[in-house]
Amino acid sequence: MSESRPAFPRPAATFYDEVGGRETFALLTARFYEGVRTDDLLAPMYPPDDLDGAQERLELFLVQYWGGPGTYSAQRGHPRLRMRHAPFAVTPAARDRWLEHMRSALLSLELPPLHEATLWDYLERAAHAMVNASESGAGGARGGGGAAPSVPPPQAPPAPPQAEGRRLL
Ligand code: HEM
Repeated sequence: MSESRPAFPRPAATFYDEVGGRETFALLTARFYEGVRTDDLLAPMYPPDDLDGAQERLELFLVQYWGGPGTYSAQRGHPRLRMRHAPFAVTPAARDRWLEHMRSALLSLELPPLHEATLWDYLERAAHAMVNASESGAGGARGGGGAAPSVPPPQAPPAPPQAEGRRLL
């Protein structure tokens, strides 16, 4: 019987909803930070008395980026993530560790392959875009010497399907 069929089709779910909403990003960042806490290279970079806060900031950013509530910007303003990472020497080694922990966290969620690939593609590109120091670690954002970055500039990652108009970083 079709008596309860809605008069209009429902709008398509956003990627954020499809992937599991806030719960998924909460789990992703919780598992990611489990790895960060034990990492000899990354752990010292984070505020030791505010790791939970750092975890929440990343979670809220990802939630907002993928089409969920805009709580991140309400609390923190424009993401400007490259600028916010400038105080930290994000070397290629730090990026690779960050990605290792993020990869394990993402795989642990056992998402459908397309959702997993979409998130991973973004996270990998974003992490490459965050590098601001050469392997020597000298000088943070300006350590590569003048305007030349220590790695070739990555291509701007594409906006996610439901977040057109949002910036990556
Ligand atoms: C590539 C390696 C990366 C390293 C080593 C790194 C390191 C850090 C550190 C040390 C902080 C400060 C912690 C805090 O107090 O919030 C931070 C903040 C943050 N990171 Fe990263 N990060 C990396 C990549 C990324 C990527 C790829 C993203 C986004 C996809 C990201 C998103 C954020 C956000 C949203 C914050 C909080 C910014 C704020 O509101 O203050 N990070 N990161």
